[in-house]
Amino acid sequence: MNPVVDVHLDAAAERRLADDVRDGLTRPFKEIPPKHFYDSRGSELFERICELPEYYPTRAERSILAARAGEIVAAAGGPGELVELGSGSALKARMLLDAMDPARRYVPVDVSERMVREAAAELVADYPGLVVHGVVGDFERHLHEVPAPGGAAPRLVALLGGTIGNFPPAGRRRLLREVRAMLRPGDRFLVGTDLVKDPATIEAAYDDPGGVTAAFNRNVLHVINRELGADFDPDAFDHVAFYDREQEWVEMRLRARERCSVWVRDLDLRVEFAAGEELRTEISAKFTPARIRADCAAAGMELERTWTDAETLFGLSLARAV
Ligand code: AVJ
Repeated sequence: MNPVVDVHLDAAAERRLADDVRDGLTRPFKEIPPKHFYDSRGSELFERICELPEYYPTRAERSILAARAGEIVAAAGGPGELVELGSGSALKARMLLDAMDPARRYVPVDVSERMVREAAAELVADYPGLVVHGVVGDFERHLHEVPAPGGAAPRLVALLGGTIGNFPPAGRRRLLREVRAMLRPGDRFLVGTDLVKDPATIEAAYDDPGGVTAAFNRNVLHVINRELGADFDPDAFDHVAFYDREQEWVEMRLRARERCSVWVRDLDLRVEFAAGEELRTEISAKFTPARIRADCAAAGMELERTWTDAETLFGLSLARAV
């Protein structure tokens, strides 16, 4: 069986970057959403981050899946289908698919066409009988492109890696409501969340000494240069990462070392940075069990169970529609 891959990113994706740059760089507090990190270089840098000793979330989440995938799948009612939002290389999906008996269909949704195609080809080769229906798209906008459930067996919709934490509170609630709309009675939602902990541990995870995270952060400026004909000098910006204890999220910013002026040719836009001025490039929220429960409840879902790793760094939570 060959995989099916639908592509729903086109000229609209470029317009979205243009809109985000225009909105984000013309306000007093400059900001650009983190989804624009992930061109192929950004995706590679992110995979390197996942291997850093300081970046604990990936390892912690994998250790939960390694120990608990069977339990999670059983608690999810024995799903036949896995829909994964932000699937990337699909390494975590394999751990769930291995526990599903049998996994009939896998629907990876990711903005990276290369990632979706590679994962789809590898999975159909490795899982005989598995149907892979990939969706290349932005799960904030293209969830309606996810095919209807393939059979009567329950469906498991997964949003792993702590990606939910990259949404601002209002966007997070909107996304959770959309996920809720994909669930029939008996279907489940599995969400991975980084947990609130000692700020030093969190800050170290977002500011490694080798500068991989700094390169990942600056990559968004390379993306804007290439896609919109801008003339950012990425090396003129310092990588900044700090934990905001009140909001319970870590922020990444890029700080202009000197006063500078940037021309964004395709937008016919000039952007001025004062010396020391910062551009926010990411928030990554950290969760308490109460926060996960409240966010799910606000979207019409009931949190059933949370699994954590041995050090309580990361949580995997299962919810159902109410
Ligand atoms: C994969 C998006 C969850 O927020 O921790 C890693 C991205 N940013 N290092 C995160 C990221 C800086 C990561 N997410």
